[in-house]
Amino acid sequence: MTDAATANAAFTPRVFSGIQPSGGLTLGNYLGAMKRFVEMQETGIETLYCMVDLHAITVWQDPAALTRNTRELAAGFIAAGLDPAKSMLFNQSQVPEHAQLGWIFNCVARMGWMGRMTQWKDKAGKHSENASLGLFGYPALMAADILVYHTTQVPVGEDQKQHLELTRDIAAKFNHDYGVEFFPITEPVIEGAATRVMSLRDGSKKMSKSDPSDMSRINMTDDADAIAKKIRKARTDPDPLPEALKDLDDRPEARNLVNIYAALAEITPQAVLDEHGGAQFGAFKPALAELAVDKLGPISAEMSRLMDDPAEIDRMLADGAARARTIAAPILKKTYEIVGMVGA
Ligand code: TRP
Repeated sequence: MTDAATANAAFTPRVFSGIQPSGGLTLGNYLGAMKRFVEMQETGIETLYCMVDLHAITVWQDPAALTRNTRELAAGFIAAGLDPAKSMLFNQSQVPEHAQLGWIFNCVARMGWMGRMTQWKDKAGKHSENASLGLFGYPALMAADILVYHTTQVPVGEDQKQHLELTRDIAAKFNHDYGVEFFPITEPVIEGAATRVMSLRDGSKKMSKSDPSDMSRINMTDDADAIAKKIRKARTDPDPLPEALKDLDDRPEARNLVNIYAALAEITPQAVLDEHGGAQFGAFKPALAELAVDKLGPISAEMSRLMDDPAEIDRMLADGAARARTIAAPILKKTYEIVGMVGA
């Protein structure tokens, strides 16, 4: 067993992850996060998935857009197969214990730790004087999201690894300072390279809703024509697809299209090459486009059906939040007691 596994033996296995409702949903969110989250709900472990609206506002969000994006993300989860009876799906601000524990962690985390976060440095850039205090404290709130449920496993992308290490540091410092074994040392479950969807314009960059070029991504709301056009125009190299996976090592754009095909078809990348090795992109791209339209069409149709009834989405999120609170409230209460708050 790893150290973390030993330290966690006393904790019930529990999965938590968060996604920012700060823009439209892309194929990258679907394959890299939502599809995996839905699969984890089938393992029998308790699963909590949270739309982190408090994190989103660490940079400016138009209020109407924030509301719409939160509901759209929820609709995307359900359309992708999340079962609201099995998983708890909710937005962060409806469970006030996140922000409350976040404050305690603001007092545990050190300025120096936060200043070393690469995401902070990237996002604040040279103008950190103008960044919000919330953006600086972002990772402490993220640690609270995770630890307020005594979460043992957090599925995230590679880019969140440093934040999870900080979460472990915060848990360890809290436990040490107060002389308790209260917070678990959380395990990251990092997505494999095969589920990381890259930009259609640049195979070295992650597919992102914030990329200025819409051609770089497939949005979950794109129609069949848009999907086909983006795949047809995706950047590639002039060579045909190889037979062996290792021959894709230095062909990031080709590798990306093969990975996307594999993830959508739920087969291995090698199985894609067994079928399409030797093919030119002129033949492979239409096959990929057809597969993508086939798989994504029903999801986006279901999303727009759900979006027609926002009150139903809101009811479902309120129910998820109420169930999440039954776990978070006693953990926050105990934290307050440990810290010495009167009345906790
Ligand atoms: N920082 C994460 C991201 O941008 C989102 C997030 C917030 C999160 N709180 C979390 C992810 C807790 C996992 C667990 O992707």
